[in-house]
This record gives sequence, C-alpha cells and structure tokens, in this order.
Amino acid sequence: MGNLGPFTAVDGVDPQKVPKRRVYTGAQIPAVGLGTYGSDRFSAEQIAEAVRGAIAVGYRHIDCASVYGNEHLIGEVLQEAIQSGIKREELWVTSKLWNDMHGDGDVLISCAKSLKDLRLDYLDLYLVHWPFPNYHPPGASVDSRDPHARPYIHEEFMKVWRQMERLVEMGLVKHIGTSNMTIPKLKLLLRDAKIKPACNEMELHPHFQQPDLFKFVVDNDIVPIGFCPIGSPNRPDRDKTETDTVDIEDPVIVKIAERHKVHPAVICVKWAVQRGQIPIPFSIHRPEYLSNLKAAVTDPLTDEEMEAIAKIDKNCRLIKGQVFLWEGAKGWEDLWDLDGEIAGW
Ligand SMILES: NC(=O)c1ccc[n+]([C@@H]2O[C@H](COP(=O)([O-])OP(=O)(O)OC[C@H]3O[C@@H](n4cnc5c(N)ncnc54)[C@H](OP(=O)(O)O)[C@@H]3O)[C@@H](O)[C@H]2O)c1
Repeated sequence: MGNLGPFTAVDGVDPQKVPKRRVYTGAQIPAVGLGTYGSDRFSAEQIAEAVRGAIAVGYRHIDCASVYGNEHLIGEVLQEAIQSGIKREELWVTSKLWNDMHGDGDVLISCAKSLKDLRLDYLDLYLVHWPFPNYHPPGASVDSRDPHARPYIHEEFMKVWRQMERLVEMGLVKHIGTSNMTIPKLKLLLRDAKIKPACNEMELHPHFQQPDLFKFVVDNDIVPIGFCPIGSPNRPDRDKTETDTVDIEDPVIVKIAERHKVHPAVICVKWAVQRGQIPIPFSIHRPEYLSNLKAAVTDPLTDEEMEAIAKIDKNCRLIKGQVFLWEGAKGWEDLWDLDGEIAGW
C-alpha cells in the first residue's frame, strides 16, 4: 500500500485485491463497504475513528448519510486520508438525501451540505434514502407519525429524481441511485429517468434475500448494495419485533462458521459478496471490520455452502420503516408493495 502514514496497517488487506463490482458507467465499486450508522449506540467520534481504522486496513468504500449525523467528522478523516496519499479516485463515498429534503431546491442544498461536511468536491454515489417524504425529530420513537408524511407519488418522486439528475450534470455526484425501493416503483423510475439509477441499496442478509427484487435490479444493470448484511444483531430494541429472526444464530450459518473457523457474521459477508451484492457491514471494532474485509479475499464458501444458505431465507424484513407511514396507511407492509401495487392514500 506504500507509506500512507496512519492509513497503513501491516495486517490489512491490499485494496487492489478486494473484488470490484462494475456500474453501468464503467466505474468500479469495492465489493465490501463500511456502514456508518451508529444508531444511538455509538457517537459520531467513534464512527469517524472506525472510518480511519477501516481505511488503514484497506477499505475504500464508505457508506454515509446526512441523517447519520456524523458526516462532518468522517469528512475530517477522509481529508487526512487524501492528504496522506490515498487518491480521491481510489475511494468510493456514498451519501444519501434524507426524507425531509424532497422539496424543490432541497436536493442541491442537501448534497452541498454533505459535500462540505465530507470535505469532498464530488460524491461517487448519492442515493434517495427513502422514496417517501416526511419529517421526524432526531430520536423519534417507532410509534411516532408525521401528520404531513406522504406515500410514494410517482410525479413527486420524479421531481426529486430530476434534481438528482441535475447533480450529475453539475459534476457534484458521479452516480445517483435509490434505496428502500420496490419493483413497481423502480419500473416507473426506469421508464421516466433520464439518468438511470446506478445502484439500489436494499436490506439483504441470509434471512432476507429478496430474490425477486435482487433479480430485477441485476437484470436492469443496477448494482445491489446490501444493508444490514449481518442481520443488524445489535440494533436498538425499539427496532426489534417478536417475529424477527437472528441470522448469526441460524444453525446453517453457525455450522459453516465453525468449518471456516470464523464468526458467523463473516459467513454472512462472504455469502453476500459471492452472491453478487455489495455488503456494507457496520462495526467500530477493528477485529470485526478487518475480518469483514478479509471475508472478501480469503477462503471462499463452497457451492454447497452457498446453496445451503440460499435455502434459509425467512423473508424476515428487519427495517420495516413504520415510522414513515402516512395518515391512513394500514401498516408497514404498505411501504413495500407486497401485492405488486404501489400503496397510496
Ligand atoms: N439505506 C438504508 O436505508 C439503510 C438502512 C440500514 C442500514 N444502512 C447501512 O447499512 C449499514 C449496516 O447495517 P447495520 O449496521 O444495521 O447492520 P449490520 O452491518 O448487519 O450489523 C452490524 C453489527 O454486527 C456486528 N458485527 C459486525 N461485524 C462483525 C463481526 N465480524 N463479528 C461479529 N459481529 C460483527 C456489530 O456488533 P457490535 O457493534 O456489537 O460489535 C455491528 O453492530 C449501516 O451502518 C448503514 O450504513 C442503510
């Protein structure tokens, strides 16, 4: 890796050896990224330190968002990394537009703020975090509802998307993409977009494999980025329900982990990379984020192990999004178009 000062670790992974996924523009994304959502468990300082450590061990892909409240500190680390000799073009930095910034003129303001905080002059990828406009104060409980929350209305979403396209035309972002979308919504977007989404960020882990959406995305040359790749085992209790299952306790995953002599979390990451999505596991702990990156370059799963994991899908969505429901919505299922129709007012 050359002498990059604090951004070199002898036990790290050579970033050039990390597999890449190709976007339709020809750009290459490192096949494992670092998640940066600390929820209320970790401070912005701790997460910025994790980004520093992760870059030192070879991560070149960082998944950020304005709503995570830590881009200003991550930006200091990115600036130091670049000053120490890591080339900007070696990094893949994603940020996301939050739900309260869907109005006319808001997208440019939000993107400019993320760029300023992250101390960058362009983003590699800018995502619409959720396709629903709403506002919640920080720390709002899952039961709270915004009386002004709105469902997906395609004409309104296209107004957001046109602003996203403008960011590409202005050179502020290299790629734009979606997150928390469904097949019916993506079909409309693909019909009407001038610049199509490069990536779709979606919940993906062994107990929630979303085979139909995954196939749709891949068939349309959109790169799937998988969030909660380990099944977010330590998410706050308020985000857990009685029927949620735990990927890293699944006997199939545990047995494969014993065979490979790694933590079950690492098996989840290996499965994700080999299946073809880009996992963005979160951890502030060095041994964990290092083992998650090593997962992509060492000791792959066998075809039999991949097939065994394919069979343990439980259709268990962890991030249900109930807080984003609008007046009159029946339940969190309305966000996900389960019957193939986009739920409205
Ligand atoms: N687009 C969206 O709407 C959206 C939604 C959710 C998340 N995301 C993104 O996806 C990222 C990842 O999701 P997530 O943080 O919810 O869940 P996750 O990555 O599935 O799980 C993270 C947890 O797994 C544990 N872990 C990680 N690596 C491990 C290892 N090698 N061995 C043992 N345990 C390990 C850590 O526990 P400890 O902390 O206890 O060590 C960590 O807190 C987020 O940070 C965020 O960037 C995006």
